[in-house]
Amino acid sequence: MQVIIFDNAQQVAENAAEWVAELINKKTNPVLGLATGSTPISLYQELVNKHKAGELSFTKTTTFNLDEYLGIDETNVQSYRHFMNENLFDHVDINKDKTFLPTCAQGENPRQQGLDYENKIQQAGGIDLQILGIGANGHIGFNEPTSSLASRTRIKTLTQQTLDDNSRLFAADEFQPTLAMTMGIATILDARYVLLMATGKNKAKAVKDMVTGALSAVCPASALQLHENAIVLLDKEAASELEDHEYYVWADKQNNKINQEFGLYHNY
Ligand code: GLP
Repeated sequence: MQVIIFDNAQQVAENAAEWVAELINKKTNPVLGLATGSTPISLYQELVNKHKAGELSFTKTTTFNLDEYLGIDETNVQSYRHFMNENLFDHVDINKDKTFLPTCAQGENPRQQGLDYENKIQQAGGIDLQILGIGANGHIGFNEPTSSLASRTRIKTLTQQTLDDNSRLFAADEFQPTLAMTMGIATILDARYVLLMATGKNKAKAVKDMVTGALSAVCPASALQLHENAIVLLDKEAASELEDHEYYVWADKQNNKINQEFGLYHNY
């Protein structure tokens, strides 16, 4: 795991945007895995800025989102499709026919929908770079604690903690779904690179468990310990419970030196 600690959340977003831009500018048919939640909003803002400045075009990019609520259609402002349109897709030159979310409309079979989503990812050539946030309980996507580390796209029942954490985004009289479709942990581990962003003090414990805790379904993000190319971008607050803080800063300096000498090399 490559842990990189920044002074603030804006720097996390800027660095994440560099990763995305590098992939999109380098690969002919880039496949990007996307996340929702408040953390990646500033990343999407950076990407929109780069697009408006003429530095980034999404015409060849295919995207797969991590998750989507069940029983909410895309016209609902709470749907993750709506979130993606609002925060990214409507502001860049992406072909929306190449943007996918793991939806399951009323009457559709969630098991079949999950299989179809996995197949669609395969047919696109697999995900090159998967953006991730992390839940305060260590979830990635909607893979709640005790999710199988070998899981694939499927329906998940949300935990009370996740419902409470996300309730801030729903009005008092608004329907808050308790079920979601989510890529599985094995689906996420299949991505060539994973880039996890975490900011703020309320993520510090989950970050500590992910980076230095035991590999365990209790902290689904700890599965990233098994990934060859897992990059974790943190602000100081999210990194505040990591014991070996200086080590990560030092290791990052060494990586930068190697990059300067031999060039940045990402095997997309
Ligand atoms: C949500 C999403 C996750 C996200 C997490 C943290 O429920 N399903 O993909 O990473 O919770 O969200 P936030 O960035 O708002 O803290």
